[in-house]
Amino acid sequence: MRKKRIVVFASGRGSNAAALRRAILEGSIKGELVGAVCDVADAPFIKTASSWGVPVIVAERKGFVSQPDFEAYIAARIEPLRPDLLCLAGFMRLLSGDFIKPYAHRIMNIHPALLPAFKGLHAQRQAVEAGVKVAGCTVHFVVPDMDAGPIIIQETVPVRDDDTEDTLAARILTKEHPAYVRAVSLFCDDKLEITGNKVHIRD
Ligand code: GAR
Repeated sequence: MRKKRIVVFASGRGSNAAALRRAILEGSIKGELVGAVCDVADAPFIKTASSWGVPVIVAERKGFVSQPDFEAYIAARIEPLRPDLLCLAGFMRLLSGDFIKPYAHRIMNIHPALLPAFKGLHAQRQAVEAGVKVAGCTVHFVVPDMDAGPIIIQETVPVRDDDTEDTLAARILTKEHPAYVRAVSLFCDDKLEITGNKVHIRD
């Protein structure tokens, strides 16, 4: 089976993107990392990705007159990389339907909550404030609606009485890395079958 070509997108620290790269190097993801995209010019992720030997595309929304121009810039730079899969890994910007369309069911995102609960920013804070007893993360395919789209994997963690946004985020993050690695690995092995809004994992 041909190795899937993967581009990772991040806006900040990039620990999920780094976990994906590690898994690719170790062979637990049968894919090839071919590029990185960042939308924040001073994000630590840029420094990290710059040592990976792949093109790093930096594009800040404020440098473009419109969202379509911003997306067209990124699209034109990732197209020559011929990606099979785009992995949004802490990429804190919504992508439009026009950007997503050519990559339908080929863009994944990780969100630090058990979707469809707690969409949007500060998902872990939302969980603490709601007083839920169980939180977690979701890896899903991306559709134009925010934090929606067919769910591939969810992992849970307990919420403790004394949790803050930060302590809960740290606990969830330990589940995010393996969850994302597993989802991407299943994609690369052609094990994900999408029917409507549901993802079936083939044996
Ligand atoms: C992760 O917790 C990820 O789930 C979250 O941002 C963090 C990025 O960390 N993403 C979102 O909230 C997207 N809605 P990282 O840069 O270390 O991977």
